[in-house]
Amino acid sequence: MATEHKQKASTTAILVAAIRASHLIWNQPAIFSDTYALQMVTPFWRQVAKNRLLNWLIKDALLGVLKPIHTEAILRVRFTEDRLREAVSTKGVGQYVILGAGLDTFSLRQGDLADRLRIFEVDQPASQAMKRERVIAVNGSVPDNLTFVPVDFETDHLDERLRDSGFDAGTPAFFSWLGTTYYLTGNAISDTLDRISSLAAAGSRLVFDYKYPREMVPPAGIEFTEKLEKFVARRGEPMISTFTPDDMNAELARVGFEELDSVSPAEATERYLKGRTDMPAPAPNFAFALFAKKSRKKKQ
Ligand SMILES: C[S@@+](CC[C@H](N)C(=O)[O-])C[C@H]1O[C@@H](n2cnc3c(N)ncnc32)[C@H](O)[C@@H]1O
Repeated sequence: MATEHKQKASTTAILVAAIRASHLIWNQPAIFSDTYALQMVTPFWRQVAKNRLLNWLIKDALLGVLKPIHTEAILRVRFTEDRLREAVSTKGVGQYVILGAGLDTFSLRQGDLADRLRIFEVDQPASQAMKRERVIAVNGSVPDNLTFVPVDFETDHLDERLRDSGFDAGTPAFFSWLGTTYYLTGNAISDTLDRISSLAAAGSRLVFDYKYPREMVPPAGIEFTEKLEKFVARRGEPMISTFTPDDMNAELARVGFEELDSVSPAEATERYLKGRTDMPAPAPNFAFALFAKKSRKKKQ
């Protein structure tokens, strides 16, 4: 992961945006309304998302077994932006750091949060160059409160890059890290968490998703897991890291974060999919969670 495909923009970032575009068109009521995703993706994926036959052909007929990852991608971003809004309203959060931002369009949809947030999008340089180009094409310019921060989590120092870009370590921040941890080495994940912790004022929040190890996947989810792993590896983005929820909590506790909420595949189904027949259950091997930075105990 650390070398060759870093030279090119992430293909999975485009695919996730295409999932959000398709969801808004074909799954009503939408669980998450990404009103800019359609404009962010390549012309090919725009056609696929808009055209009923093409959409069915690719999503159901050719890649039907991968559909649980579509649900996953929608639920995790819904969870994230709901928690972001809460944290801005109740926790004095004034900065939003989108790690591995890909084609995330929050900066174009921020509405009433625009006056209250500074946004930092962190991504590997080639993905970020593609993103900047799309934002300018769609919006005419980069939103005033958005700063792009090119970072490779495997080699760069996130904390230094963010501080140099104007991040204020004295103001609580909301960090999201979606669709990315499983593409990184364990060292890059630990190092990034250390650096997030060093930047995060008490009360800061962190939302991310992670992949379960194979032994946690129920038998019915094995075919999906294998096909997904092959699908992304063929596109130069192999999934290489997994965590159990206990390991993840221990890792976060190590850097001073406590869990506030954790959403397993079963919990996600319960919260977001009740009564729906148009979307399958989310992927059986991914979870997302919300953590808060604890205040340091005062020395006696
Ligand atoms: C599947 S996309 C997710 C994009 C976005 N978070 C979303 O959910 O739509 C994975 C993202 O991780 C980024 N990424 C992967 N490896 C990275 C690395 N070593 N350093 C920085 N970003 C990385 C890619 O550039 C890409 O934007």
